[in-house]
Amino acid sequence: MLSAKLHRRLLTSLMACLVFSAQAYAGDPDKGATVYHEHGCYSCHGYNGTGRTPLANNVSGILVNETVFVAFLRQRADRNPILPDNSMPSFGVSTLSDEQALDVYAYINSMVDNPPEVEDIPTFVTILDAAKAAGNNDDASN
Ligand code: HEC
Repeated sequence: MLSAKLHRRLLTSLMACLVFSAQAYAGDPDKGATVYHEHGCYSCHGYNGTGRTPLANNVSGILVNETVFVAFLRQRADRNPILPDNSMPSFGVSTLSDEQALDVYAYINSMVDNPPEVEDIPTFVTILDAAKAAGNNDDASN
C-alpha cells in the first residue's frame, strides 16, 4: 500500500507532467489553416486575416500569447446568439480542442498582410491612366 505522502508526490508529478505536456504542444500552422477554414473564422476575418476584423501582421493584443488567445476563444459565453449575428462567437472545448486552438493560433501568427503598391499592379495603372486621359481624375478644377 502506498503511503499518503508518496501517493501525493506521485499525483503532483503526474499533474506536473500533464501541465508540461499541455504547454509543450507547439501549434501546427498547416493544421491550423484547416481549423481556420472549417470553423468559419475566414468568414469574418478573411482568407488571409485581412477581413473586417483583421488578424494578419500580429495586429491584435489577443495574440500576445497562447493563454490569452485560448481564454478569449473560450470565455465568450455571451456570444452564442440565437439570431444571426456577426460578433465573435464562443468556441468551447467541445467545438475546438486545446490542440486545435494552438494550431489555429500558429496559423494566425503566420499570416502576413503585404499588399503590393498600387503602381505595381499593371491593371490598376491602366485604369488610372485611362481615367486621367478621360479627364475623370479627382482634380476639382475641371
Ligand atoms: C461571426 C463572425 C466571426 C467569426 C466566425 C469569428 N470571429 Fe473572431 N472576431 C469577430 C469580431 C467581430 C471580433 C472583434 C471584436 C470582438 O468581438 O471581440 C473578433 C475578434 C477576434 C480576435 C481578436 C482580434 C482583435 O481585434 O483583437 C481573434 C484573435 C479572433 N477573433 C479569432 C477568431 C478565430 C480563431 C475564429 C475561428 C475559430 C474566429 N475568430 C471566428 C468575428 C468573428
